[in-house]
Amino acid sequence: MKAFVLGSYGSSDHLDLTAVDTPVPAADEVLVRVRATSVNPYDWHHMRGEPRIARMMPGTLGLRAPKLRILGCDMAGQVEAVGKDVTEFRPGDDVFALLEQGGFAEYVSVPERLLARKPGNLSYEQAAAVPMAATTALLGLRDVARIEPGQKVLVNGASGGVGTFAVQIARALGASADAVCSLPNADLARSIGADDVIDYASQDFTRSGRRYDVLLDIAGSRPVFACRRVLAPRGTLVLIGGPAGRWLQPAGHMFSALAMAPLVSQRIAMADTVSCTARKQILMTLTRLIEDGKVIPVISRKYSFDDIREAVRYQEQGHAAGKVVVTI
Ligand SMILES: NC(=O)c1ccc[n+]([C@@H]2O[C@H](COP(=O)([O-])OP(=O)(O)OC[C@H]3O[C@@H](n4cnc5c(N)ncnc54)[C@H](OP(=O)(O)O)[C@@H]3O)[C@@H](O)[C@H]2O)c1
Repeated sequence: MKAFVLGSYGSSDHLDLTAVDTPVPAADEVLVRVRATSVNPYDWHHMRGEPRIARMMPGTLGLRAPKLRILGCDMAGQVEAVGKDVTEFRPGDDVFALLEQGGFAEYVSVPERLLARKPGNLSYEQAAAVPMAATTALLGLRDVARIEPGQKVLVNGASGGVGTFAVQIARALGASADAVCSLPNADLARSIGADDVIDYASQDFTRSGRRYDVLLDIAGSRPVFACRRVLAPRGTLVLIGGPAGRWLQPAGHMFSALAMAPLVSQRIAMADTVSCTARKQILMTLTRLIEDGKVIPVISRKYSFDDIREAVRYQEQGHAAGKVVVTI
């Protein structure tokens, strides 16, 4: 099969289109013909080996060489073959999953416990937009913030991959959502359900004078002490991400925010999708929301498999309006 293989840390030029062996599924695995993937910051953090401090953290990046050789944590495709212990899937089934790696390839072998049926009303490209970004949004809002109907949510970074799902999921869970994004994306934010839109270039959202039950902080553009100003006295700040840096960020932003948690009255907590063990259940919940028409993936751009390096370069700029997907 063909796969983009990462030989060493660096730019997307380090992704080499290579012929490699097609994986053979273990007893509890499903071999999937990948039809589409999407690009996430997760992929290029692993590609660049940044932030470098993460190379020192066991289980995150490799110390000297990439831990992940075939990137791509989002995947939608068709079951090709199943291991002998697999009971839920058969060849021909349409599926999607949130993987650790392997989506930038024609085939991937996936443990049955991670695989879910593709939403029936989505194309492969739309389905591939969902796993990492929408799982993070649902995890942050439902499981970390525990939002309730009638609450007010502010999404900082509302027009990107995670943000476009977060605004829709907040609404689907009965909350109202305001959005922080750039002016060109204001109409997009309104079209997916944001009541009010704050342009981060001309307004500091922490000085709006409003108070929210939940601030879902995807952009990580303001320090915690400033974010507290827009939180209700018993509100929750959910840390999702922050500006990327070479050595420390966004890890530094997250850890310094968490260090303040015991000192403040409001709740500060992090959503960590990579270590989430309920990914399949979350994908199944998302499928219900999608099939009910409450959540629709927003696609910023589509690329062909051969142009995957270009897709990664575009996503790395950090201003995609929605998701960057790749047809395979
Ligand atoms: N904790 C986790 O498990 C987890 C999981 C997934 C992602 N993440 C993190 O979440 C972050 C976003 O991921 P993503 O996939 O949504 O990325 P993305 O698609 O690139 O979206 C980034 C968004 O940030 C917005 N933005 C840039 N500067 C901003 C500012 N100063 N104020 C407000 N918004 C700003 C951009 O909006 P404009 O285009 O309008 O400028 C864009 O919509 C990344 O740091 C990623 O690593 C964390």
